[in-house]
Amino acid sequence: MLEAREISWTKGHKTILQNIDFHLFPGECVGLIGPNGSGKSSLLKVLAFLETPTSGLLYFQGQAVPKSVPLPIRRKIALVFQKSLLLNTRVFDNVAIGLKIRSLSKGKIQERVDYWLEQFGVSHLSKQLAWSLSGGEAQRVSLARAFALEPDVLFLDEPFSSLDAPTKEGLRIDLGQVFKATQTTTVLVSHDFKDIAHLTNRALILLNGQVMAEGSPSELLKGPQKEEVERFLAHFSS
Ligand SMILES: Nc1ncnc2c1ncn2[C@@H]1O[C@H](COP(=O)(O)OP(=O)(O)O)[C@@H](O)[C@H]1O
Ligand SMILES: [Mg+2]
Repeated sequence: MLEAREISWTKGHKTILQNIDFHLFPGECVGLIGPNGSGKSSLLKVLAFLETPTSGLLYFQGQAVPKSVPLPIRRKIALVFQKSLLLNTRVFDNVAIGLKIRSLSKGKIQERVDYWLEQFGVSHLSKQLAWSLSGGEAQRVSLARAFALEPDVLFLDEPFSSLDAPTKEGLRIDLGQVFKATQTTTVLVSHDFKDIAHLTNRALILLNGQVMAEGSPSELLKGPQKEEVERFLAHFSS
């Protein structure tokens, strides 16, 4: 579905990503985990065509991706960030906007928006203005908006990290159910191993812009790993 070969990204004198190989197969959710500043968001942005790597190649659905990424390819992906970027309109309109841009019929838009608001348990908020939502509600609406696009690849950058623990837990469970039902091909960034363990079958550990380990969450925890990876994982073993 998506492949990166020997991706590096430098800004000025700083190497942000170094020699990264990455594969994403249809229907899987792959995790990117690492401490703050390890390059998770940078890698996600490169994979989602928001930043152009300094070197290396990207392939999307078997085709090399050109430097200027064509709109039809961009429209096959969806993104959700840590802070929900909702427009100050009603919840319904926020979820509908991408579908309007894609010229879906009014009836189809209504059907899809209703369906995805329901999946994320926020149908009752449909007429509410986005600014009046709680953090957890806003993230649910952001996820509904991304899923409503029925993207070929979904990119989630720390979608729960600004939420309190119980809110995060509830959303993690609901998102897990949606993944199970839809098999949406996803890249999930998190600094929390719990998210990775619950939602992914495979994850890459990034340290200082490099992939230091890769495997299923249980394989990663079992080790043995390089010393610096062990040190990072030690935070999650208690
Ligand atoms: N556009 C940019 N210009 C310069 N440095 C950047 C840019 N984007 C990210 N960085 C740097 O790259 C490093 C990795 O950042 P980031 O990918 O946001 O890490 P993470 O998401 O793992 O916390 C940080 O040191 C950050 O300051
Ligand atoms: Mg980040």
